[in-house]
Amino acid sequence: MTADGEAHVQTLLASMSAEQKVGQIVQADIGSVTPEDVREFHLGSVLNGGNSGPGGNDLAPARDWLALADAFYAASMDRAPGQPAIPIMWGTDAVHGHSNIVGATLFPHNVGLGAARDPALIERIGRITAIEIRVTGQEWTFAPTVTVPQDYRWGRAYEGYSSDPALVASYVGSMIRGLQGPPSTAPILAGPHVAASTKHFLADGATVDGKDQGDATVSELELRLIHGAPYIPAMENGVATVMTSFSSWQGVKISGNRGLIADILKDRMNFRGFVVTDWNAHGQVAGCSNASCPVAANAGIDMFMAPDSWRALYASTLAQVKDGTIPMARLDDAVARVLRVKQRLGLFDAGKPSARAYSGRFDLLGAPEHRAVAREAVRKSLVLLKNTGVLPLKPQAHILVAGDGADDIARQSGGWTLSWQGTGLSNGDFLGATSLWRGIEQNVAAAGGSAELAPDGKFGRHPDAAIVVFGETPYAEFQGDIPSLQLRPELRRPFATMRKLKAAGIPVVAVMITGRPLYINEALNEADAFVTAWLPGSEGAGVADLLFAGKDRAPAFDFQGRLPTAWPATARHGGPTLFPFGYGLTYADGPQPWKALSQDSQVADDGSGGGVYFDKGLATPSWSLTVSQADGGDPLRVTTVPATGLSGRASVHAADHTVQEGARQFVIAAGPAGAAVEIAAQNAVDLSRETNGDVMLLATLRLDAPPSAPVAMSVRCDGSDCGRPLHLPEFAALAPGQWRVLGVPLKCFAATGADMTRITAPFRLDTRGSLNISVSRVALGGGMEADVIAKCPLD
Ligand code: BGC
Ligand code: BGC
Repeated sequence: MTADGEAHVQTLLASMSAEQKVGQIVQADIGSVTPEDVREFHLGSVLNGGNSGPGGNDLAPARDWLALADAFYAASMDRAPGQPAIPIMWGTDAVHGHSNIVGATLFPHNVGLGAARDPALIERIGRITAIEIRVTGQEWTFAPTVTVPQDYRWGRAYEGYSSDPALVASYVGSMIRGLQGPPSTAPILAGPHVAASTKHFLADGATVDGKDQGDATVSELELRLIHGAPYIPAMENGVATVMTSFSSWQGVKISGNRGLIADILKDRMNFRGFVVTDWNAHGQVAGCSNASCPVAANAGIDMFMAPDSWRALYASTLAQVKDGTIPMARLDDAVARVLRVKQRLGLFDAGKPSARAYSGRFDLLGAPEHRAVAREAVRKSLVLLKNTGVLPLKPQAHILVAGDGADDIARQSGGWTLSWQGTGLSNGDFLGATSLWRGIEQNVAAAGGSAELAPDGKFGRHPDAAIVVFGETPYAEFQGDIPSLQLRPELRRPFATMRKLKAAGIPVVAVMITGRPLYINEALNEADAFVTAWLPGSEGAGVADLLFAGKDRAPAFDFQGRLPTAWPATARHGGPTLFPFGYGLTYADGPQPWKALSQDSQVADDGSGGGVYFDKGLATPSWSLTVSQADGGDPLRVTTVPATGLSGRASVHAADHTVQEGARQFVIAAGPAGAAVEIAAQNAVDLSRETNGDVMLLATLRLDAPPSAPVAMSVRCDGSDCGRPLHLPEFAALAPGQWRVLGVPLKCFAATGADMTRITAPFRLDTRGSLNISVSRVALGGGMEADVIAKCPLD
């Protein structure tokens, strides 16, 4: 910072009221704040969470994002004469490209970049990402994630480059320079750059059992040498902000840990930027709630990410400043840090977002030269684990492309893509992107061959070779936590396809889409070649680049990807290693012999995926479906249908939805004892993270006749009623005879007083009237998957 810059910061600070200062350290989500609120509360920052977009539309076109950025900016600058005007700063999760924006270039997720072992490439990716962010008017990304994951059961492991601290550290400086430009006194926004944020400080990748937002019990030495390592290059390269982790270290939540934030990060590591919390993470600090957390401010937090809680948090923080709970000197330090970053950005002189360089250059979103770099990154990230000689394939042939992941851009892009979980999307939502299938088809067609897509492997014309694409489906954060290192059973179906193709004498190349190494010995044994594609993003053609020979039958490119972490031989975390860190074959190695692997996973099957309580008309393992009186009397546990209960007043039948008998229909006559339909388990589940994360209960329903009396929805805690029942207008308005996915934010149940840490029944319908309804599925998910979203009264 120049002396002039610092003088400007101090002048501003001296002219600010306590209200204006508190506003600067509060960040709200665009889904819960208006420009008018920004003007009134002097808010310093907004963010768009994974599920937020302009006007409530996560898929809003790029120009709407820019227009909204202008509106927030104008509100922040609209001040009475003599009042300080401080431009707002907008943060976004551009974690693999500007990944919330339709049409943006989507780079491989970090785990794939870790395989590429190419720091110079990382800097180019950072620069392109920054340019695309600038197009839509934001000036801050919550990236790079510099976690060093030690347990790949963690649902965020793919956001980390590697489990190796040295490899992670070797990338951090490059990514920060790409995003922010070199550390210098020149304004960041003067170049093609934005402010970066290293996250999640500290040891987010060290939690026990890989539990997201869990507790890291590691020693201080490991904390420093493994998890602290990436923060050294981050400081050297002048990262503007640091985001604290949801997790805790030795039982103390990081966001309230003064020793780590104030003493280590700021004093010892000499961090000069500002520290922002994660999404309502302050609410998890002992003694705090989402609405109040002086402990975090006093521990050294400079900005609260208070997406939907900002209003109450603003009020409590202001009161705590006024009564001295938060010392004025601490507030001044926090505000000065925020202002310094704004000064360093050049925000005070930048003008409105749409007037800045790159703004509105929509041609730069997904520009061909950007996509070319993403495609190069895909090529460099692929890791060849097996090749008995089938690769490279001859493109002048007939190629079958099979597997459920072959033509699915959402799947190859993973979480944090357009929507938070990366779910609820179809190929049409990805303007300009290329699926793996399309890339293969193009490659083969250009060489005079032909390709055929048949996800189930049932080909029309006998192929010369088959490529089977399989693997994980998208997830983000805790929704991706898994108990053991294996694919869910339904995702293993392509193994049988491989077997059938082999039996028909067709050589098979397996391509795995995945955020992490998993036990897949069966596929490794079946296939003649095996390529790990990680989560490649929008440029699926980068995969074909490596699978096919070019002219003269020589491979056009060679593999250079190396495992960024060890690959397991069983599904047990901490079990034996199959391929070590750094492993990866090349064409130069030539064909390699294969010795069949044991197909003993050494763990029990996981059963159904978490968060699905009822599917295709059946309760999932450990859940049961019951019809009873409202007070629980006369219960009928529905196992087979048809079934009759409530002394003949209720009957349950099979109904069809998506598949034959994929739903259950309840026909219940009115009665004074009432009736309840409930999905429940013996043991309570803790849904507090899901509640904080804006996850919804999604019920796929068909009202078969209008109910004769109000129907209440509720949850139960520890086997008893908890919270007030919800009478949702959206439920009452469901059109009879039509299947609808009704989304009820878990927050709604929490707001009625339910203890979301002890849920035994996530779904319950209650009525005294007649009820005729069919239910196909009850599960947790996001708003993108709902047809109707309940607007329940909150607070
Ligand atoms: C995630 C962060 C992210 C933030 C904003 C949090 O839940 O943990 O990584 O930057 O939300 O979307
Ligand atoms: C937001 C994410 C955030 C998460 C917190 C979601 O609703 O969209 O950005 O990371 O909640 O757990």
